[in-house]
Amino acid sequence: MSAPLISVQGLSRIYRTGRIDVAALRQIDLVIREGEFVAIVGPSGSGKTTLMNILGCLDRPTNGHYVLAGTAVADLDDNELARLRSREIGFIFQSYNLLPRMSALENVAAPLIYQGMGRRDREARARAALERLGLGDRLAHEPTELSGGEQQRVAIARALVTEPAILLADEPTGNLDSASGAEVIELLHELHRSGRTIVLITHDGDVAQAAERQVHVRDGRVAA
Ligand SMILES: Nc1ncnc2c1ncn2[C@@H]1O[C@H](COP(=O)(O)OP(=O)(O)OP(=O)(O)O)[C@@H](O)[C@H]1O
Ligand SMILES: [Mg+2]
Repeated sequence: MSAPLISVQGLSRIYRTGRIDVAALRQIDLVIREGEFVAIVGPSGSGKTTLMNILGCLDRPTNGHYVLAGTAVADLDDNELARLRSREIGFIFQSYNLLPRMSALENVAAPLIYQGMGRRDREARARAALERLGLGDRLAHEPTELSGGEQQRVAIARALVTEPAILLADEPTGNLDSASGAEVIELLHELHRSGRTIVLITHDGDVAQAAERQVHVRDGRVAA
């Protein structure tokens, strides 16, 4: 068996907002190994995005242990956490989250700035990533000049350009028509076949079928 990339034990996340506490995650245990394609599936409000934010080092748990690629996340300060995140994780969001008024090429090249790469190399890498996703003729287009499916492919190129160990996708087909959605799922399959570890978050049981393993989340708990 391959090594665990993500290992989570007794994870909880409580949102404290004013007088009420919301326990969004309760005692989650989860191991995801290198090369796996896992779907985290559950109804709205079950804690999927909360879990993705923690797995992606965008948020910290209230309690529990998280080891990412051999590093105990709790031991890191915010800068170290950001560095680990940019090295290990690529994100894909439902709403694409592209930077407005910037070209597809600039959007995809942006994560490489944080890796200290020079401009020529950044652009060459970004161009190659966009060409791989069939967007070689859309390099100069801004997000508003692209279809939803194309925007999501730009976002996937951006997630891949740093060659992260893990791709975290939160409802990546949520805003797409069924044909564009199927294309995105097929892309995730291809990436999985080429060895990438993929975590696909969805409320949609049909979309979850794409993965080789499903983890069901309900009321902040992993259901048996
Ligand atoms: N920043 C926050 N402050 C307070 N409560 C929050 C916050 N974010 C999420 N919650 C609550 O935590 C619970 C889990 O939310 P989360 O966004 O993780 O669900 P989800 O499974 O991603 O839902 P959806 O499928 O609708 O995206 C919900 O009850 C939500 O209201
Ligand atoms: Mg969500």
